[in-house]
Amino acid sequence: MKWNSRLMETWEWNAPIVNEKQKQKVASRVASFVKEGDVIGVGSGSTSYMALQAIARRVKEEHLNIQAIPTSQEMMLFCIQAEIPVTTLEVQIPDWSFDGADEVDPDHNLIKGRGGAMFKEKLMILASPRTYIMVDRSKIVSTLGLNFPVPVEVFPSAIRVVEREMEYLSPSSVHLRTGNGKDGPVITENGNLILDVWFRDIPISLEKDIKAIPGVVESGLFMGYKNIGIVHD
Ligand code: 5RP
Repeated sequence: MKWNSRLMETWEWNAPIVNEKQKQKVASRVASFVKEGDVIGVGSGSTSYMALQAIARRVKEEHLNIQAIPTSQEMMLFCIQAEIPVTTLEVQIPDWSFDGADEVDPDHNLIKGRGGAMFKEKLMILASPRTYIMVDRSKIVSTLGLNFPVPVEVFPSAIRVVEREMEYLSPSSVHLRTGNGKDGPVITENGNLILDVWFRDIPISLEKDIKAIPGVVESGLFMGYKNIGIVHD
């Protein structure tokens, strides 16, 4: 028996989408990669949302059978709304995945995590043979850290320890991310806090150096991942 839910009928992306036309273009391109029977890892953010919508249209029109593995609660709800069956990384390996990014450098290193979902997004990229990273041209930078800080997900009681240890990596500033639609800090889907950390220089070793701090769950730095393909407008 199916739920009869007004909540799902009215659930929608909750903010204006910056560079919507450009994002629509790359989202449609990625939707064209879908084949019958695919298990697809679904990234988070507005570009991933648009790709999922485009995929849902193909699924309906072409009667495709696919499964999705969402990287966030938001994408889980959009999959349910689109009637795309959902599975998990514990059950299936994705055939391929798609996601967005906040910055991409010439070597395809990434900053991700404006949406705070970088922990599951990183798991998905590691699990997938191929992940398509969809970006509009505003995301392509000569060097990482120009427009976005590095988000770092931190176990709550470790926040002071991580702040102190982070100083050894010479950040230019460290901020606790605060929420919209709630008072106080953003709480991630894993029950953690997010530090937004600005660096003047992001060497290739920084992802591992941040991860080595006890209390850090994950960062939004993706350095040297060979299994990603950049799709831009
Ligand atoms: C979420 C992400 C997003 O993919 C990234 O922030 C890009 O978002 P958008 O597609 O809305 O520009 O990493 O955690």
